[in-house]
Amino acid sequence: MHLRLLAAAFIAAAFCASVVMAQDKPDAKMPDAAKPTASEQQANDKPEPGKTYVPGIEQFMNVIQTEHTKLWFAAQAKNWDLAAYNLGEIKELLGDVQDLYPKFKSLPFADMTDAVVTGPIGELEKAVDAKDGKKFAAAYDNLVTACNGCHEGTQMGFVVIQRPTVNQFSNQNFARKKK
Ligand code: HEC
Repeated sequence: MHLRLLAAAFIAAAFCASVVMAQDKPDAKMPDAAKPTASEQQANDKPEPGKTYVPGIEQFMNVIQTEHTKLWFAAQAKNWDLAAYNLGEIKELLGDVQDLYPKFKSLPFADMTDAVVTGPIGELEKAVDAKDGKKFAAAYDNLVTACNGCHEGTQMGFVVIQRPTVNQFSNQNFARKKK
């Protein structure tokens, strides 16, 4: 083995050892008075006062996508209560985005939402109420078209929505409960 390599390995090992030793005694150099108490530590973990967190449109969209997936599988399982719930969540989320973001890239985002989704969501509500799988599938496809229409219109055409093929939520049972 080359001597220089050996020396480098030795230095690295010594460095690691010193780090480990320092970690063993983290407060060795910190006087007790300077150590945060448990409650001080908790206070430190609180967000800066006055700062509020507003989720970005993409974060809403990711949740909408989740509800949109679940909506499909709820209807496939003929679990119409669940489907109604997921559809309601989609409506609510879209409404929240509209409130928070009237504009996107100076486009009238809120108005665009009304224009494209109102029709398909109304059709979906009717289909779910009627427990009609065929009408549901057709309305679902119209909603997919609406999602993609707005993506095209907001220069987000590379986000292409489609009917889901696999239910990735294996920790949720979509089957209807026997009453
Ligand atoms: C009114 C316009 C509009 C409608 C309607 C709309 N979207 Fe979006 N969507 C956007 C915009 C704008 C973005 C990009 C947001 C950003 O990057 O800040 C986006 C992004 C997304 C993304 C990408 C998020 C990511 O991080 O990968 C998904 C997924 C998505 N939308 C799903 C949907 C689904 C599903 C629907 C229909 C149920 C839908 N969208 C309806 C405008 C819309």
